[in-house]
Amino acid sequence: MNELIGKHIVLGLTGGIACFKAAELCRALIKEGATVQVVMTEAAEHFITPVTMQALSQRPVYGSQWDARESNNMPHINLSREADAILIAPCSADFMAKLLHGRADDLLSLMCLARPLQTVPLLLAPAMNREMWAHPANQRNVAQLKADGATVFDVGQGDQACGETGDGRMLEASEILEELIAFFQPKTLIGHQVLVTAGPTYEAIDPVRGITNLSSGKMGFAIARAAREAGASVTLVAGPVHLPTPRGVTRVNVSSALNMLEASVQHASAATIFVATAAVADWRPAHAADQKIKKDGSGEVPQLTFVENPDILATLAQSPRGRSGELYCVGFAAESQDLLINSQSKLVRKGVPLLVGNIGPATFGQDDNALLLVDAQGHKELPRASKLALARQLISEISIRTQV
Ligand code: C5P
Repeated sequence: MNELIGKHIVLGLTGGIACFKAAELCRALIKEGATVQVVMTEAAEHFITPVTMQALSQRPVYGSQWDARESNNMPHINLSREADAILIAPCSADFMAKLLHGRADDLLSLMCLARPLQTVPLLLAPAMNREMWAHPANQRNVAQLKADGATVFDVGQGDQACGETGDGRMLEASEILEELIAFFQPKTLIGHQVLVTAGPTYEAIDPVRGITNLSSGKMGFAIARAAREAGASVTLVAGPVHLPTPRGVTRVNVSSALNMLEASVQHASAATIFVATAAVADWRPAHAADQKIKKDGSGEVPQLTFVENPDILATLAQSPRGRSGELYCVGFAAESQDLLINSQSKLVRKGVPLLVGNIGPATFGQDDNALLLVDAQGHKELPRASKLALARQLISEISIRTQV
């Protein structure tokens, strides 16, 4: 919440059935603290009324370049100068073609052309039929608009209003919101490939029972999101948790510590940064039964024996790329007391350049946390905040330490 405080967004609507999603998007932007100025093309007004958009944005909607409400009669200049971004959602194929040529025969296209290129970014959320999306002319336009500096979001895939199925639907409002929030984050990890482990592991006893722990995965998912926001390409190796995958992050679901090790080793070969947030089970049952272990009424209880799981973090930190620093490894320590001393000793024991301590009972399942960063130079506290806010600070600290 409040991710967009202080941001003024011009929300442009062009003609398309996805205009109904723009209403929800407008609300979501305002809920995050943005102010929103809606500008609609004539075509957009066939799909949703300015009355709806005015009520949601709490500002009069603009539609015409001849609108005399502005004292200088230049809405295209005034509205574009005060914006932190122009977001066009939905952006039709026709409107993209128009932008491409720098045409300016309605207020919205006029504003896009008249905006100061360096300070007012243009973001487009395309929405169209799948054949229109795939058409070479449209694909050419998308590529050229990107080359001209616009940010063109992906399209969604699935059922379309026309009854066809394929690529071209506009992203959902929540997805566009996540993209916009990411857009405003500093791009400190461009060119990096980040690997994150998150969540608990599940160690099977038999086909229906197992041992796991209370890790929610929230911290690791927040770090994956923050790394992607910072411009990295991100792989998230996740134990069994029911959290949505952050946008743009490649997720690999695993179950046991051995699965997690295998997936991590595989993806670490291309990674430049590894952040181990997973609460990996220390031990697993030595033999998982093939069939469900039955209670036979005799009162006898099964005797479980355990073997130690491999340490994923130490394995990667001690690999040749980990040792040379090509793979920068970050460990987590969930402690219940003596955070600094325990974190310092874990830094040495795991052989990592950065160790992040937190108090286990105070973080498991929570939306906020407090972190203690420990490295060879000393330590630094990141005071209690939301896990996403802390993840962004941690990513910024990692980016400073991995600068070449
Ligand atoms: O030894 P301990 O479990 O306290 O270490 C915690 C750190 O090591 C975390 O970063 C955790 O993700 C990682 N770890 C691991 N594989 C294990 C145990 C811990 O990667 N088997």
